[in-house]
Amino acid sequence: MVRRQWLFTMVMILALAIAAAGCGGKGGKKEEPVSSGPSAEVLAEGKDLFQQSCSACHGSDGKGLPGLGKDLTTSEFVKGLTDDELLEFVKRGRPASDPQNTTGVDMPPKGGNPALTDDQIKAIITYIRSIQE
Ligand code: HEC
Repeated sequence: MVRRQWLFTMVMILALAIAAAGCGGKGGKKEEPVSSGPSAEVLAEGKDLFQQSCSACHGSDGKGLPGLGKDLTTSEFVKGLTDDELLEFVKRGRPASDPQNTTGVDMPPKGGNPALTDDQIKAIITYIRSIQE
């Protein structure tokens, strides 16, 4: 009887260990793609910040609003830049006086929200990439 209980305990410990290892393995797998793909947290943060700082002109779906911001989901400009280049662009903006401006409307630096940090803008960029067509 004592032996049986001992065996049962061992089996339970083993089962728990396997379950824990399984979770650990999954967690590890989830961490890895951070370098190649965005994590869910960054994406959610970027979406939030985009709604706060960019959607007034670019629309809540990023498709742009007439006479305001351009469609970012089909933007070749966005596609053509690296994340770092896009970060620099968002920080600088593109005033109507810029020869590269295409609409005659200002794209304000940081969308007019100077409080945005580089990391926050990077999260926004991650979000924009995710809604690109
Ligand atoms: C006040 C309105 C406004 C806000 C807010 C705004 N934008 Fe813009 N954005 C514009 C306008 C207007 C353009 C187009 C400029 C032009 O004519 O070239 C633009 C262009 C862009 C482009 C270049 C698109 C292309 O195809 O050339 C990117 C990228 C962009 N905005 C990102 C952002 C991000 C990210 C935010 C939020 C942090 C933001 N914008 C907030 C008005 C805005």
